[in-house]
Amino acid sequence: LDPAALDAALAALPGPHLVAATAGTTDAGLIDPLPEIADVCRAHRARLHIDAAYGGGLLFSDRHRDRLTGLDAAHTVTLDLHKLGWQPVAAGLLAVREPDDLAALHQRADYLNADDDTEAGLPDLLGRSLRTSRRPDILKTAVTLKTLGREGLGALVDQVCATAHEFADLLADRPGFELYDRPVISTVLFRPAHATDAAVAAVRRQLLHRGRAVLGRARPDDGRLWLKATVLNPHTRPADLAALLKAVEELAEGNAPR
Ligand SMILES: Cc1ncc(COP(=O)(O)O)c(C=O)c1O
Repeated sequence: LDPAALDAALAALPGPHLVAATAGTTDAGLIDPLPEIADVCRAHRARLHIDAAYGGGLLFSDRHRDRLTGLDAAHTVTLDLHKLGWQPVAAGLLAVREPDDLAALHQRADYLNADDDTEAGLPDLLGRSLRTSRRPDILKTAVTLKTLGREGLGALVDQVCATAHEFADLLADRPGFELYDRPVISTVLFRPAHATDAAVAAVRRQLLHRGRAVLGRARPDDGRLWLKATVLNPHTRPADLAALLKAVEELAEGNAPR
């Protein structure tokens, strides 16, 4: 998100405005220039939401948290602890700066949160969640934080970011592959050199069907199709990555146009 283009768009469009910036894009793990975007939003009195579903976990890491400078200027932030937090998929959070932003959740129903029960101190999730009959997955998050602490989670974040950089180094050394860019978080886009988009797509499906690897796919600004490895497993070792590249190489040769 380009702050100058955002500034021009907000000046041209009638308000009120809600700006959604991203800290960790789905395709390439890019982080928008958050402090500059926050300044533009402030100048136009626009609300700022930051989708930190993927990148928010960098906050755990002393080494990487600076890259989220500006996050605290947001009115609302989404954070998925099922990405860089190693939780079950339900662990998506919306954090609000002003508690009143959750006013829409303050519904009352006598059978769920009767006033006299609330006054007597009985807890309920209404006012905090849209959900009622669901498993208390927050317990897993609480146990993880209690057991590993911020530093323990930060070490896992550092590990996957370092592994993604090693993977990028490995790709840069191999003439048979193209590397899209150095990873910003832990996402690495790559493709077999000289492959067509159809061959790249076929390689990905074959890896899946043969039970070898689950790779994502992305079509970034260059318009070409790339294989996407989002490294999220702290146990991934260089040998796993080398084996992945070997498998991709073999399948790409088999899919080369004749
Ligand atoms: C940047 C970003 N935002 C939002 C989402 C959606 O998250 P969820 O599936 O938890 O709704 C994703 C999922 O990958 C994502 O990468």
